[in-house]
Amino acid sequence: MTKHTVTITNRSNTKYEVDSRRPLLDALREQGVDLPYGCKYGGCITCAAKLTDGKVDQKRQVALNNRQLSFGYVILCVARAKSDLTLEIGVESHDKLYRNPFLDPLKQHELKPDIATSEEI
Ligand code: FES
Repeated sequence: MTKHTVTITNRSNTKYEVDSRRPLLDALREQGVDLPYGCKYGGCITCAAKLTDGKVDQKRQVALNNRQLSFGYVILCVARAKSDLTLEIGVESHDKLYRNPFLDPLKQHELKPDIATSEEI
């Protein structure tokens, strides 16, 4: 079992120890961190947080497109820590998560990774 430290910058830099085999949402909620969530299988985006340092395994997420990934968003209900992490959590971390698709449509390379046609991110 590998443990990593998660620092939450928008909660007074509070630190938590997490098991690398467990989803971050579960590991943090069990320690009293109040986190929004919905589906818990990586599809609805409610639990998105912004990763500002470190690496996660979130291969099972299907909610984020390349634009959101490029801003560091991670899906906490499926993401596992692969290193020590620094996160911003909650709705205040969602400033770059959404945009109006009619005013500002996604470009090809910003689509979901499985349908994007260009390498540029
Ligand atoms: S709770 Fe739905 S994507 Fe995480």
